[in-house]
Amino acid sequence: MLKIENLNVYYGAIHALKGLDINVNEGEIVTLIGANGAGKTSTLRAVSGLIPIKSGTVTYDGKPITNMAANEIVKLGMSHVPEGRRVFANLTVMENLELGAYLRKDKNGIKKDFEMVFEKFPRLKERVAQRAGTLSGGEQQMLAMGRALMIRPKLILMDEPSMGLAPLIVKDIFSIIKEVNDSGFFYSNSSYFFYFTFIFYNIH
Ligand SMILES: Nc1ncnc2c1ncn2[C@@H]1O[C@H](COP(=O)(O)OP(=O)(O)O)[C@@H](O)[C@H]1O
Ligand SMILES: [Mg+2]
Repeated sequence: MLKIENLNVYYGAIHALKGLDINVNEGEIVTLIGANGAGKTSTLRAVSGLIPIKSGTVTYDGKPITNMAANEIVKLGMSHVPEGRRVFANLTVMENLELGAYLRKDKNGIKKDFEMVFEKFPRLKERVAQRAGTLSGGEQQMLAMGRALMIRPKLILMDEPSMGLAPLIVKDIFSIIKEVNDSGFFYSNSSYFFYFTFIFYNIH
């Protein structure tokens, strides 16, 4: 589903990714583990079109997406949960989730997906009107995941989903990720049954 071949990324003179190859199959949860500065974030950002790729190729769902614009890549069903969650602090939980569905026009589908997100994350349901900046770190991570799921993605890239969270919350987050991946989540009602594929970085 995602194939990264001989990827090279530079920041000026710094050669951050050197000939990276990764293959992610449908239904798989793939984890990248590496020290600080190893290039995990750069890998994700290059795949999602957020930083330029100097050479090498990225193929997603059979299509070449190397250096494609980030907004076009999202439209293909890939969502990125960035390091540090990056929820919109001044917006409510509901507004953050609505932004996840920004590109969609299928009103009924969106409604159903809200219900499914709230089923997976009951804490978010209790807090729909709360401003995201006042959520705990774990709740913000759940919101960032919920927002990513509202895109109705086939592939989710998660950058350090456990960073800065208490061990019990980390356990919760990872079990929800596994659950979502096992269930196929949003696609269970459609004739095509896709599994989600996740990439995680730095599981502590
Ligand atoms: N915006 C940037 N400008 C210059 N160098 C960067 C930038 N972002 C990352 N790097 C460098 O690229 C390398 C990989 O970093 P990164 O992908 O953030 O690693 P990780 O996520 O594994 O900690 C590091 O050497 C880092 O200093
Ligand atoms: Mg990083």
